[in-house]
Amino acid sequence: HRCGPNVLYPSVYASSFHDPQYQKPLADDQWLGLTGTKLGCAEGGCGACTVMISKYHPHLGRHHSVNSCLAPVCSLHHCAVTTVEGIGSVAGKLHPVQERIAMSHGSQCGFCTPGIVMSMYALLRNNPTPRMVDIEEAFQGNTDTHQHTQGTFTVRFIGLQNVCSFPKCSRYPGWEFQVNVLTVCCQGNILLPAPLYNPADFQPLDPTQEIIFPPELMSPTRLSFMGERVLWLQPASLDELLDLKARYPNAKLVVGNTEVGIEMKFKNLLYPVILAPSYIPELNTIEHTDLVFGASCSLTVLGDVLKTAVASLPTHQTGVLIAVLEQLRWFAGLQIRNVAVFFSMLTCSFCTSTHALSVSLSISLIICLYPSSLSLFSASRFPCSFSLSLLDFLAGPRVVVMDENFFPGYRRTILTPEEILLSVLIPYTVKYFAAYKQSPRREDDISIVTSGMSVTFAEGTAVVKEMALSYGGMAATTVLAKYTASGLLGKQWGEELLQDACASLAKEMTLHPSAPGGMVTYRRALTLSLFYKFYLTVQRKLAAEGVCVEVRADYVSATEIYHQNTASSVQIFQVKGQKEEDVVGRPMMHLSAMKQATGEAIYCDDIPLYENELHLCLITSTKAHARILSIDTSEADVMPGVVTCVLAKDIPGSNVTGPAFYDETVLADHTVTCVGHIIGAVVADTQAHAKRAASAVKVSYEDLQPVIITIQDAITHQSFYQPIRTLQRGDTKQGFTQADHVLEGEIYMGGQEHFYLETNATVAVPKGEDGEMELFVSTQAPAKTQALVAKALGVPANRVVVRVKRMGGGFGGKESRSTILSTVVAVAAHKLKRPVRCMLDRDEDMLVTGGRHPFYGQYKVGYMKSGKVVALKVTFYSNAGNSMDLSFSIMERALFHMENSYNIANVWGRGYPCKTNLPSNTAFRGFGGPQGMLVAESWINDVAQSLGLPTEQVRRLNLYKQGDTTPYSQILEHITLDRCWDECLETAHYKQRRAAVDQYNRNHRWTKRGLAIVPTKFGISFTAAALVHIYTDGSVLLTHGGTEMGQGLHTKMVQVASRCLDIPTSKIHITETSTSTVPNTSPTLGYNVAKCNAMHSVANPLLGRQHPDIILNPDPNLTLVAHLMPLFRRAFLRTPDLGYDFETNAGRAFNYFTYGVACSEVEIDCLTGSNTNLHTTIVMDVGNSLNPALDIGQVEGGFIQGVGLFTLEELKYSPQGYLFTRGPGMYKIPAFGDIPTDLTVSLLRDAPNQKAIFSSKAVGEPPLFLAASVFFAIKDAITAARAESGLSGPFRLDSPATPERIRNACEDRFTKMCPPALPGTFTPWAVTV
Ligand SMILES: Cc1cc2nc3c(=O)[nH]c(=O)nc-3n(C[C@H](O)[C@H](O)[C@H](O)COP(=O)(O)OP(=O)(O)OC[C@H]3O[C@@H](n4cnc5c(N)ncnc54)[C@H](O)[C@@H]3O)c2cc1C
Ligand code: FES
Repeated sequence: HRCGPNVLYPSVYASSFHDPQYQKPLADDQWLGLTGTKLGCAEGGCGACTVMISKYHPHLGRHHSVNSCLAPVCSLHHCAVTTVEGIGSVAGKLHPVQERIAMSHGSQCGFCTPGIVMSMYALLRNNPTPRMVDIEEAFQGNTDTHQHTQGTFTVRFIGLQNVCSFPKCSRYPGWEFQVNVLTVCCQGNILLPAPLYNPADFQPLDPTQEIIFPPELMSPTRLSFMGERVLWLQPASLDELLDLKARYPNAKLVVGNTEVGIEMKFKNLLYPVILAPSYIPELNTIEHTDLVFGASCSLTVLGDVLKTAVASLPTHQTGVLIAVLEQLRWFAGLQIRNVAVFFSMLTCSFCTSTHALSVSLSISLIICLYPSSLSLFSASRFPCSFSLSLLDFLAGPRVVVMDENFFPGYRRTILTPEEILLSVLIPYTVKYFAAYKQSPRREDDISIVTSGMSVTFAEGTAVVKEMALSYGGMAATTVLAKYTASGLLGKQWGEELLQDACASLAKEMTLHPSAPGGMVTYRRALTLSLFYKFYLTVQRKLAAEGVCVEVRADYVSATEIYHQNTASSVQIFQVKGQKEEDVVGRPMMHLSAMKQATGEAIYCDDIPLYENELHLCLITSTKAHARILSIDTSEADVMPGVVTCVLAKDIPGSNVTGPAFYDETVLADHTVTCVGHIIGAVVADTQAHAKRAASAVKVSYEDLQPVIITIQDAITHQSFYQPIRTLQRGDTKQGFTQADHVLEGEIYMGGQEHFYLETNATVAVPKGEDGEMELFVSTQAPAKTQALVAKALGVPANRVVVRVKRMGGGFGGKESRSTILSTVVAVAAHKLKRPVRCMLDRDEDMLVTGGRHPFYGQYKVGYMKSGKVVALKVTFYSNAGNSMDLSFSIMERALFHMENSYNIANVWGRGYPCKTNLPSNTAFRGFGGPQGMLVAESWINDVAQSLGLPTEQVRRLNLYKQGDTTPYSQILEHITLDRCWDECLETAHYKQRRAAVDQYNRNHRWTKRGLAIVPTKFGISFTAAALVHIYTDGSVLLTHGGTEMGQGLHTKMVQVASRCLDIPTSKIHITETSTSTVPNTSPTLGYNVAKCNAMHSVANPLLGRQHPDIILNPDPNLTLVAHLMPLFRRAFLRTPDLGYDFETNAGRAFNYFTYGVACSEVEIDCLTGSNTNLHTTIVMDVGNSLNPALDIGQVEGGFIQGVGLFTLEELKYSPQGYLFTRGPGMYKIPAFGDIPTDLTVSLLRDAPNQKAIFSSKAVGEPPLFLAASVFFAIKDAITAARAESGLSGPFRLDSPATPERIRNACEDRFTKMCPPALPGTFTPWAVTV
């Protein structure tokens, strides 16, 4: 039942839904037939599934953005749900939000776009005049695939600025924000402002597009709903709730479902009876004598009320309220806060992330510390009948104070099963109070350590009278540092107290080195550091009261609360003078952008269900290395909906597979070699049934030795894939002898999860004849998929067609590893002769597919006093995982980039791909290049530090020049490194910035700034194929071997064809990539330009024949074969003269190089390790850009993905090879706040590249490494911090530079009190793989 287009009344709709399980998430679009709402993680962590829910609330009628993946359909009783399709469409009219995000180049792969649109839309429905801070808050819960994926303008720019940066809209007057985007085009020598989009083209809002709240939903009623396994009861009154609770004492109360939903999905917990108290008036009340919140008030409501209270109350009453508000800012994203309740958070008594450390959020600690009262009603005092007695209700609530006894154990509270919470009271008072939360990422992340601290003093003195110090993340529940606090009573607030407190805390807040969650040294140091911040904060207040000495001016920044500055950006590009109709080089909008913004763009899993279609779920290994003794499917076989189990014996062709080397199995038959190794699959009528049955399959194993998880394990066992490559030039021995100095060092660089928002997906459809099968796959490698499916099915490749419409991101993750799913799905479809579908859940995808190779590099470098490097020896070890996959080529590329952009006479490099028991690691944007270059930047940084020279001076001195030769004997022509370098220095105002940073560091002890400028040189070479059809009606169909994953390849292809054929782009169309039209193609990587070259070769010769007449003067009657033949043309291109031989160090490795330079400035908090990206300038040589909007998008997105790689993203494995980080809850990619506050991207002017189409260059992969400038800026800041402790010279900093690593490297008096445990004396929770 729908109200208008795609606004649903789920309460009515659900009753006709065939499978009304509690767990059926709204984000599962197949059952509604709507494709716009995407499922990216199913755990509330990515925002792709954002919809707007409107409900009529007695007190608070309003619209909310929510994560529909966590919204059970029953919870939407009497709500109106607006999905992205409901606000606009391409065929009808786009909503202004959709139009702006599309036209300002805000959508690339498009998978996250509908969620971002809906977050913005919901904000504007509530608040037509939002401030920038409101907009930033609205996007906290959206993962911006475009910053992490193909690039494009980070949503900060598209979402926050571009969307809002255009003339007033009558309905949304707040949209008059002006952007700081400066775009420059150069026609001849005259610089003219040339925006990347024209705001004048935007349509005004059509008020008829705004859907009103359906009046019939204004009176919520009770709901009783029986699903397959769950009874959902929504009472309408407190009496009913109490009665139901008495009748079902084990019933689970669910409000936001952000906790229970996660438990049910990821821990397979089942709550057969759910009570939903959302609408009960008593649980939604808010009182203002002190603040009392009803138990069902959402965190958003809490925040709004607190803000009002803070604005109206005297300051001495608002300390706690402000602290709670500050903590709320960093609690999850807005979508979660809109539904999650304060009470649930308190009663959970732990942080939801499965393996998170924190026991409790600071908010609860606040409550602990300041006698907050919880009112509890016990249902046992009431008769167990559905008609409740008010008398019993009047018996009164139990009131408990939230002290340290509230949590008797992990995930337990003092509530009895029959009790429910009614309200929570937050006191107005308390003078000296602070709360802290430290997490890996500032926004939307679970804490590592939290703390709430309070102190009161004897009247008019600084002598401690009472004190409470509580910590989350240091034990299974919130703990009070009682011993320390009591030891400080009666002491004067001053240095001696600080000393005593820290010494005592170091003893009291201990952790076993194997403690779950790891980071033990860091967590311990944090307890002291946070206390120190509290100490200084209180000292400042006491000083203001005249009872204590002032805090040193350079220490004050330790007391400041972080607030993000409003971002600004500048993009600079050049458009050459050319005729108006020629679109090449112009910032043309991504061709699918509008469809992506309205949710109409079709991805693999959006393909409508086939009538007899089945769903597949994988059975995977729980052991890293073991022999399979038996696989028992008997229980699964008889479970509801199960059709079959697929095992190795069901493979009709070959079970041997592998994208580059045949060293893998489609389904493990005898042994498993990693956790997540695919053993089989269950096929059932629904995904839920398949999933449930897969977990019922029992596999018994015999453990095998050795279990090799880490690079160090592999070195110990000499477990390497062969051959071991060596690349050398000159005589390193002689070089080291000549050198004035020689230093040695090492660096480890962690892996990276691709985190494409669309997980791997395949639909396999047997055609019923001659073994034919059609597959729809989310893959970068259709031809490889075709070949491996054919091999597994035992049919020739000509029976298998692989089709790819578009992907929601790839980054190399779907270059080869997508085949491990598509082959299994194909085998299942072949066995059953029915279509079979599988889209992996995020956790499954992360478990089975592998990611970027972790690298460990050892180096020895010889250099002169000037800083000139004369000799280099590097050894790389990569963690390749349990199969070869592409590891060999990745190691080769690491060797090719081991000198990054520096000319070194004598070089020797060797690379060992380590064979381990992890899922096979694979291609990832940069393909080994970033790993090789990071090691290079590490040694050049060491050289500068050891000589005490500015790092930029040493880097510049060693930079390649025109005509220099690489270690692999390639002469560098048309080199633009020096131009990029100089322009970057100038644009970033490097000198002034350096001076300002040094000045800042002199004036600040506990926060430091750092600055770094880093170059990149990235080799390009690849093959491509293309096909052009011209139809007699004058329309043109392009097909090519490349796949669209958001990078805008199809758009560039159309631009190229348009110029070649001299026709408008409107005449040209691309439908999909298919192996039946362009065969035998290479996978799509970051080299769009190569594909465009192919399109050029195809289309260009057609120009000048008869086709322009046909296109411009269509003749449907044209049938003569002679005429038609030239209207079809294909080409297959291979870069000429390529081929390098490691044995002889001869041949050309690359066709050309893409160059770039970035300068970044950061600020670190030395006490917590948090870092803020203040500024980045990027100058990138992309030749003559084919499309500056898309290319700048690639640069920005690649850069931010690199920021994730080098500063944030950490895959955590247990010593047994189990991956802990299997979703956005634990694995954090950059959020909006990680984008540099001030970002300038400039495409180098007048730098045509003769080696590629229309003088352009490849741009997809090269910019990623430039984020190393952030890493080395952090290192620079740490250097300044260490100098305060008298430490100087090179030091090791591994990647990513997480808050943990930063804090540990900023050695000071507090870290010294918490030394790490000796390696080898304990088994860590997680290992460095
Ligand atoms: C993406 C994401 C991010 C998150 N980020 C954070 C974070 O930054 N910090 C953090 O601490 N936590 C975080 N969490 C976890 C968070 O604490 C919970 O999700 C939230 O507070 C639970 O609220 P809810 O209403 O959704 O709970 P529900 O899932 O509806 O219920 C949670 C529990 O509370 C009980 N309950 C609810 N109401 C009552 C009542 N009236 N009486 C008795 N029991 C009741 C329920 O029975 C259940 O046991 C995050 C969760 C997600 C999914
Ligand atoms: S799919 Fe719902 S937040 Fe990711």
